[in-house]
Amino acid sequence: MKRYEALAADIEASIRAGTLQTGDRLPSVRQTGERRGVSASTVFQAYYLLEARGLVRARDRSGYYVTGGGVRNAPPEMERTSRPGEGSIALDVSEHVFEILGASMSRKVVPLGSAFPSPLLFPLERLGQMMGSSARALDPWSTVDDMTPGSAALRRQISLRYLADGLQVPVDEIVVTNGAMEALNLCLGAVTRPGDSVIVESPTFYAALQALERQHLQAIEVPTHPREGIELEALAVAIERHKPKACWLMTTFQNPLGSLMPEAKKKALVELLTRHGIPLIEDDVYAELYFGDRRPPPAKAFDTAGLVMHCSSFSKSLAPGYRIGWAAAGGFARQVARQKLSTTLGTSVPTQLALAAYLEQGGFDRHLRKLRQTLAVQQASFTQAVGHFFPPGTRATRPLGGYFLWVELPAEVDALAIHRAALDRGISVAPGPIFSAMHEFRNCLRLNYGHAWNAETEKALRTLGGLVAAAVRPAGSARL
Ligand SMILES: Cc1ncc(COP(=O)(O)O)c(C=O)c1O
Repeated sequence: MKRYEALAADIEASIRAGTLQTGDRLPSVRQTGERRGVSASTVFQAYYLLEARGLVRARDRSGYYVTGGGVRNAPPEMERTSRPGEGSIALDVSEHVFEILGASMSRKVVPLGSAFPSPLLFPLERLGQMMGSSARALDPWSTVDDMTPGSAALRRQISLRYLADGLQVPVDEIVVTNGAMEALNLCLGAVTRPGDSVIVESPTFYAALQALERQHLQAIEVPTHPREGIELEALAVAIERHKPKACWLMTTFQNPLGSLMPEAKKKALVELLTRHGIPLIEDDVYAELYFGDRRPPPAKAFDTAGLVMHCSSFSKSLAPGYRIGWAAAGGFARQVARQKLSTTLGTSVPTQLALAAYLEQGGFDRHLRKLRQTLAVQQASFTQAVGHFFPPGTRATRPLGGYFLWVELPAEVDALAIHRAALDRGISVAPGPIFSAMHEFRNCLRLNYGHAWNAETEKALRTLGGLVAAAVRPAGSARL
């Protein structure tokens, strides 16, 4: 542990123990530095880290204050690994998902069920300027040259970002796509045939289930821990039993759990899959939204056999709606590019060039630092509100990044009924059953904390907590 991490850990422990309380001012940087015998920059780093975790907040010129982020009132953390039913399943989730989420898309609804963070968190004006200047300077031949596998300038920038995180990903491996969703679908198509089985986490992102359904694939749901991701022992058993042709996993800030596989576990995962020659489609769209001190490495960092297809995008971190994603497709890059050529042919060239220019000219890391900090603070506010407004028996995850909370309600509460009642009151939630091929997680909800914390959100969480509390009233009293 580095010095600033040790200092941050001590302060965090004091906050969790209640020695430092909400509203308390942290000692000045100079005082802490003198007391601990460390430099001012070490203290600053520790304070920045605590800030990114949502535990303290800087106030103009007057120092750092304890926010109470996730301190008192937080619901107990979820600990139990999921236990999905065994077997491989032909899917019929898509209609159900459309029906539920379609109703939640209106701007008038408080978007706790949305998969997107607030669009106001992104540098859209600056990106707009880049769009204008890139389009004006467009080399006419780039509209041909920059089709699939994509703009050389953008692929180079993506490769450089991997390099900054210590990963060697050659430009040749990168195929630019229409968002991560296309990358994931192409990778799936590159390594499976209809009727094959694919391993997913339990719960998993409903769009993964929809993609499997569309490609006539069977889902095998594997037990997953809410903090540490898929269980490797259960995965090994499922591999032996079902001989899957691929795994589709979210190793960092999984949707909906927010789980983060520890590095050693990611390495062991890749080793296990390599022994069986099974490709991993790594869905990694949230990795830039970490609250710690560095980006968690993807499983791809441990791939020596070219079996990991790392799929990501700028949709969650920089440019929602621009629909620019990519697959770093390892040994499958050619197949993935061919899939793309025979489906959507290419990705908008002016948009690729605008993003390449933005990445080249800098500012992305500054934007990301601010975004992470905002999300960490919002997580703290939402977590506290869940602890405050939801009835006893509620549990929630406390992810180290991303913008989702997975909330387990008391066992008798039906999340689909809560979803309907909440929607009648202008609030959307994502109910648990849409995250499972077998419609499990009946008493779970995914809540999005990527929208500003304000009086409206607070009221929505109070209403939601009231609905859940009403659903657990003793027999005989009114129910939803
Ligand atoms: C886990 C996961 N993967 C992929 C996507 C899709 O990303 P994109 O918008 O870049 O297609 C999402 C969006 O909600 C997601 O949550």
